[in-house]
Parts: sequence; structure tokens; C-alpha cells
Amino acid sequence: MHTVTMAKGQTKGETYAELAALLRALIEGEDDFIANAANFSALLFHTLPDLNWAGLYLLKGGELVLGPFQGKPACVRISVGSGVCGTAAAARRTVLVENVHEFPGHIACDSASNSEVVVPLLKGDELLGVLDLDSPSLARFDAEDAKGLEELVRVFLGS
Ligand code: SME
Repeated sequence: MHTVTMAKGQTKGETYAELAALLRALIEGEDDFIANAANFSALLFHTLPDLNWAGLYLLKGGELVLGPFQGKPACVRISVGSGVCGTAAAARRTVLVENVHEFPGHIACDSASNSEVVVPLLKGDELLGVLDLDSPSLARFDAEDAKGLEELVRVFLGS
């Protein structure tokens, strides 16, 4: 299977462009959503530096339910509007949190997490869930990460 090592000194833009190509190759010809989501989370977790959790929450029956992920066991159900994930789902936009301890209503699944980014999974107008990445470092994610991850979500969803 694919092993990935990103070159040192690469810009974030270059890293995300390579990741997009790798993700395309990983999911090509496979239409099983869970299998592709599992590989998506594994690709991110094992490629991007300084993460302690990467995975998906999927919208089921009006709430976010834990999907494929890499990292420690996490909370299973999150209401839309709650925590960082629920906020991104309700607003249907990416939420960047430099310090999760300052985010009102943050849901602490792994005490190692200090910053977080959540990207909605939008296929057209339909919200399928969210992609969630956590880091032990403060302010790990910036606007370039948000842009790169949003592009990866478009590749993942084929949208
Ligand atoms: N911190 C998230 C909960 C999910 S875990 O980080 C995996 C939140 O506040 O929604």
C-alpha cells in the first residue's frame, strides 16, 4: 500500500497538492464511502505532522456520529451546534481553533489536543458530516491548512 513521506522544506501548498494526488489515487475506482473515509483519515494522520487525531463525523439522524478515524477513541455523538465539530456543521464552514481551551463548548475527547480544525463535508447543498483534525500544538492550523483541507474534502467527495 502507499507509504508517504513528504519532503522536508516543502511548503504547505506543495504538501496539500501532493496529498490531493495521493488521495485521488487511493479512492480511484472505489465507491465504498466508509472504506474511502478510513483511508482518507489514515492518509492525513500519517502524513501531516503534529496531529493527535484525524477523522470524520458523519451526519446521521440529525446528529454527528463518529466515523472512520485515527487516534485515541473519541466521543461518539455530537449535536449539530455543539463543540467545534457541531459549530462547523451548523455554520457549514471551516472552523479553525488556535486554542481549544478558549473555545466555548469545546468537547475534549483527547486531553492532548490544543488546537483543531473542522471542515464540513458538503456535497452540493447536502451536509454529509465533518472532517476533524486535532493537534497537541497551539495554533497548529492556519488559513493555508483550511484551504488545503477543503480541497482534499472536494477530492474525497468528488465534488
Ligand atoms: N473536539 C471536538 C470533538 C471531537 S474530538 O476532537 C475527536 C469538538 O469540540 O467538536
